[in-house]
Amino acid sequence: MATDNEKSGVSRRGLFGFASKAGAVGGLVASFRPFGGVAWAAQTPKTYKKWVVNTPVVDKKISEANFKLTEPAMPQIKEGECLTENILFNIHSATRDRMSTTGITKPGETDNTNYTLARVLQSRDRTYKEGDIIACLGGWQDHQVQSAEYGPQPGYDLPSELVKQLNGTNNPWGYVFRPVMLKMHSSDVLMDIFGTSGTTAYFGIREGGPIMPGDWCAVAGTTGSVGAMVAQILSYKGAHVIGFGGGADRAKWVTDNLGIPALDYRAADFEQQLQKAFPKGIHFFSDGVSGPGFSEIITKYMNPDSRYFNYGSAGAIYSSELPKPGAAKPMATKPTPQGTRPKRSMGMTELTYNMCAEKNIKIDTWQAQEHYQDRIEAEDYMSKLVFIKRLKPINTVVDGVENIPKAVVMQYVDNPYGKLQVRMSQRPLI
Ligand SMILES: NC(=O)c1ccc[n+]([C@@H]2O[C@H](COP(=O)([O-])OP(=O)(O)OC[C@H]3O[C@@H](n4cnc5c(N)ncnc54)[C@H](OP(=O)(O)O)[C@@H]3O)[C@@H](O)[C@H]2O)c1
Repeated sequence: MATDNEKSGVSRRGLFGFASKAGAVGGLVASFRPFGGVAWAAQTPKTYKKWVVNTPVVDKKISEANFKLTEPAMPQIKEGECLTENILFNIHSATRDRMSTTGITKPGETDNTNYTLARVLQSRDRTYKEGDIIACLGGWQDHQVQSAEYGPQPGYDLPSELVKQLNGTNNPWGYVFRPVMLKMHSSDVLMDIFGTSGTTAYFGIREGGPIMPGDWCAVAGTTGSVGAMVAQILSYKGAHVIGFGGGADRAKWVTDNLGIPALDYRAADFEQQLQKAFPKGIHFFSDGVSGPGFSEIITKYMNPDSRYFNYGSAGAIYSSELPKPGAAKPMATKPTPQGTRPKRSMGMTELTYNMCAEKNIKIDTWQAQEHYQDRIEAEDYMSKLVFIKRLKPINTVVDGVENIPKAVVMQYVDNPYGKLQVRMSQRPLI
């Protein structure tokens, strides 16, 4: 019998469950035809579906009314471009803030910075060939023009020459997936584990390591996308891993699904529970939350010379309130105790930073793509873990381009576990 989620076009992955349960709602899927220049062009739909911001999000209150559906004419590609069918994309946790009055996605625009899996339908591009399955940055739409020339999203550095050479593009998130990856993994797994969540986890542990069996590790955001990957890889390495959930039910979910003890960070006696859970102190802290409160409490229990991987600011992103006027701002980036200079602040507070400096804690603060010259190494390592069933995707898939607004709202209202994704095609990848 179909579950409520299946009826509504939403599926969640179970423990090591790799078979898709989602109902096929995907708009253009049924009418799919072989790709390839003239044959495809003859049957090209005249229009495609694209959601844009209708009205900006005010006071963090998001609803489907903030979105508007448009049906632009199918674009004609120029030299250096290709036309893609967008297969599946990850909803970024910062989407709501990007849609606010001061955000980068303005009324009438789509959010063009979602990590997307796409199939190349027509190409005049130097790297992307017809039939390729590519990773790219995509909008809330089912077709899109892409190019190997496109750079990263606004505000992000160009990739290194090594990354450009590996990808054959100007974008760390723009590349053709190897056929072996398409044989081993479904579209949602490719975007979850082998997207920015898994690669952040892999490089965070590699750069913050070596993690020795028996190390005590605190993993923030364990019910979320990156944290769920970090926790699984650390467990595989034989560390003592402790996770966190926002409520007793969410902490229990971590234990039931990731097989590690977890604490409810909202419990009144959280700090006492934390102290008891780490009898030898903390050797490694993976933190995608930052800000005041939670991260400051954890840092108190970190050992001298331990390691702090600070990759995100979910605390501020998911807060239902805007920062109060006069509230303490996250500290500006400054040299870490080891003398290196983090490129950007993830919202670490002055208090957290000072505790790290006092205890000579090594701070790693970077974006995953800064390590993407080693992306293939990450793909191979994590593919092995998937194969031996030590790493599983934690994701929720919403089907259908028409359900994009519903999915974005879900991210903030339903708080789904792991990565939330929208799928627009269920056609086999290979
Ligand atoms: N550096 C990089 O390359 C990189 C890559 C990917 C993501 N990021 C960033 O990392 C952050 C997390 O990303 P994600 O995709 O893992 O997010 P996500 O899937 O939305 O998960 C967010 C997690 O944060 C927890 N959380 C939220 N507020 C909290 C609070 N006040 N105290 C403690 N925990 C709290 C949530 O726990 P509950 O829901 O159980 O409360 C949830 O587990 C974001 O800022 C994202 O932009 C950075």
